[in-house]
Amino acid sequence: MSRPPVIAVDGPAAAGKGTLARRLAAELGLPYLDTGLLYRAVGRRVLDTGADPADPAAAEAAALGLTAADTARGDLRGPEADRAASAVAAIPAVRAALLDFQRRFGAQNGAVLDGRDIGTVVFPQAEHKLFVTASPEVRARRRFLEMQGRGQAAEYDTVLAEIRARDEQDMNRAVAPLKPAPDARLLDTSSLDADAAFAAAMELLGVAAAGT
Ligand code: DC
Repeated sequence: MSRPPVIAVDGPAAAGKGTLARRLAAELGLPYLDTGLLYRAVGRRVLDTGADPADPAAAEAAALGLTAADTARGDLRGPEADRAASAVAAIPAVRAALLDFQRRFGAQNGAVLDGRDIGTVVFPQAEHKLFVTASPEVRARRRFLEMQGRGQAAEYDTVLAEIRARDEQDMNRAVAPLKPAPDARLLDTSSLDADAAFAAAMELLGVAAAGT
């Protein structure tokens, strides 16, 4: 039997990658890694020490000391964690510290990984690459509803502004910026719900869903 595949699912915040990647992993029997959670956990560790997440030395130390327990914390979502994650993610030493872990995760048994640079940097040789997008307005609406569902105070206009700011930072950083790999398949979920996005992804990957 051939080696289990690595499937890279990249794209901007709230495009639906997490939901999609988790479902693909379950369907295909592959391990799943939310790589954004690694950056979030690093950002949170820096905040805990009282340092600025944009401080390269503090962020690198936090990345090198990262443990599994850090990624299981309950306070990794929300605007403060979003900003801290985006700031540490722009620091090359942080990205280097997290690279090995991500590669080892997928190398042995295949995996679905979601993030920003999986198809471009972490697994440029991945068998399958999806780049999942949606308009900023649609993504802001999804994030807004998600926050409301968690009981967090939220305003749509603020969420939209945060999404645009984070896109800007993630796309324009010098190291591993958010962009589709040349061989990635684009999937725009602006007018797709989770089921339709999953069906479209399975079709793009050339694998038929069980029971269809
Ligand atoms: O996917 P997310 O929103 O949880 O990601 C949090 C932050 O981490 C986001 O600003 C982009 C960054 N990130 C990254 O630079 N590379 C990845 N592979 C995953 C996330």
